[in-house]
Amino acid sequence: CGIAGYVGGQQALGVVLDGLRRLEYRGYDSAGVAVLANSRLLLAKKAGKLSNLEKMLAEAAEADLRAGTTGIGHTRWATHGGPTDRNAHPHLSADGRIAVIHNGIIENFAKLRAELQAEGIEFASDTDTECVAHLLAAELAGIAGSPQALADAMRRVCGRLEGAFTLLAVDAQAPGAVVGARRNSPLVVGRGNGENFLASDVSAFIEHTREAVELGQDQIVLITADAIEITDFFGNPAEGRDYHVDWDARAAEKDGHAWFMLKEIAEQPQAVADTLRGRIGETGEIMLDEVRLTDQDLRDVDKVFIVSCGTSYHAGLVAKYAIEHWTRIPCEVELASEFRYRDPVLDRSTLVVVISQSGETMDTLMALRHAKEQKARVLAICNTNGSTIPRESDAVLYTHGGPEIAVASTKAFLTQLAACFLVGLHLAQVRGVKYADEVAAVVAQLQEMPAKIEKVLAGMDPVRELGRELADNKASTVLFIGRHVGYPVALEGALKLKELAYMHAEGFAAGELKHGPIALIAGPAGDRQQSGGPADDESGNPVGHGTPVICIVPSPAGRGLLHDKIVSNIQEVRARGAHTIVIAEEGDDAVIPYADVLVRVPRTPTLLAPFVTTVPLQVLAAAIADARGHDVDQPRNLAKSVTVE
Ligand code: G6P
Repeated sequence: CGIAGYVGGQQALGVVLDGLRRLEYRGYDSAGVAVLANSRLLLAKKAGKLSNLEKMLAEAAEADLRAGTTGIGHTRWATHGGPTDRNAHPHLSADGRIAVIHNGIIENFAKLRAELQAEGIEFASDTDTECVAHLLAAELAGIAGSPQALADAMRRVCGRLEGAFTLLAVDAQAPGAVVGARRNSPLVVGRGNGENFLASDVSAFIEHTREAVELGQDQIVLITADAIEITDFFGNPAEGRDYHVDWDARAAEKDGHAWFMLKEIAEQPQAVADTLRGRIGETGEIMLDEVRLTDQDLRDVDKVFIVSCGTSYHAGLVAKYAIEHWTRIPCEVELASEFRYRDPVLDRSTLVVVISQSGETMDTLMALRHAKEQKARVLAICNTNGSTIPRESDAVLYTHGGPEIAVASTKAFLTQLAACFLVGLHLAQVRGVKYADEVAAVVAQLQEMPAKIEKVLAGMDPVRELGRELADNKASTVLFIGRHVGYPVALEGALKLKELAYMHAEGFAAGELKHGPIALIAGPAGDRQQSGGPADDESGNPVGHGTPVICIVPSPAGRGLLHDKIVSNIQEVRARGAHTIVIAEEGDDAVIPYADVLVRVPRTPTLLAPFVTTVPLQVLAAAIADARGHDVDQPRNLAKSVTVE
């Protein structure tokens, strides 16, 4: 969820709505604001995207709502209670005195709710959040409102809450104050001049100030126009970490592109170059001093675990091939949500690499904590300065990709690959390797990736055209096949299609196809008619098109065997009527006879090929989504940073 709070001299409604617009990628099931004006709390909330709320406000907003200079706002990704008007935040206490917004899950909410109901309180929503409004009101009953009293009440209430949460609250009787609380979920303060801000991330207030204060775990913050007071949950003074936000506010604008995702795809050459910048020396040595792991630490590593979610997990799967090959250290890749529940074997000599664009994904954070409890060393690969995951890790390598706003991850993926390769190469160099020449060559090739990605991007018109065609295709599934690092690329291509086009898609190891999934392939409807079959069947394939199969082909150079094996797999699917869309490098003529559609990428060594082969799959998914009229940046049901487990 996205959270924004403001106290100062401006109209709070405008500031909070602007902030929410920039945070909407964090959740967009519903949106709401509460503004404090003339000792009254005024609320407006609406199911659906923020634009629904804005429309409602444009048609009928009370003058007071526009007048207030203290306010809070929320965009929601539903956990407890469906995405309806009544479940939208803010939530009010029964007496209307307190308004609360919340990100996270309050795990003991059922117990708290039952207690409150036993005291006669009627709930107006199905959310866990509403408990907090009632609990705060109970703490404040009979107490004259003041900023300090609200902060004290918040401290006491937080002591009763279990789970992960960020909370913001305002009290109708304490004008000019917003109180925030943070346990696990993100919350940053923006330090202004005569005004202060609270938000889930800095993008909400970057237009107003670049001076931010990151809160620690279990801290309470009270903001007024002139002061920021931080304490722990017991009321002891505490310190946040001050930092300056160095990216430019324009980085969070669409810059002429129809969607953020298209802008972020286009930014990939620069983003990868930024990840590599300053980290490769003149003689090809990898320089990761910032990572704060000593050479001895790295020599002691006898096992690597890579732990992450979603697209970041796919980056980890690619990294495994490189790390094991170069360093000969066993490397396992695991979904963060599974990791700690299966009791993985970890000790001091295990290096756990957690990959997270946002640095806030709760599954990954919990996996990291588990790894630390088991004494493993944790290295974070992260794109977001000031986020929780790098702060709790022993070491961090930032990807420097700039803000990624579109929910479906693109440039983060390629920069994560670059960062993973740097880590693998560094490990290899420090420990001495079997393939020293190859490692030296890869360092040079890695630096060519930005130019190669640029070249791929320049040739994407046919892929966009293909996207428009596939948008009308009623096929019940789209399959992606690859081998070696092409396999995680296939998984990522399928994920993009699910996320954006809402099509069923699956990525397979091409060799595994014959062990089951090949049964999914159906030929074109026309062929079936000719052979006396029905014109249409559950495959939904139109006349002239069999099941679309997107094939990721590695370079024929170097690992020729791998290349030839996948060419055979393409023939196998085509023989069963598949419509083959082949991604292969320039000059690879062997694929021509079997490709219904051929997409060319520049020649690239196999291990680095995901930098170029992923890009057409991103472009394809975005083109299908756009042609289908979907919201490309905010696909249904998803959120960018998932701060619940
Ligand atoms: C969410 C996003 C995905 C992302 C995943 C992991 O599910 O929708 O695009 O890959 O989280 O995010 P992280 O920030 O940890 O990389």
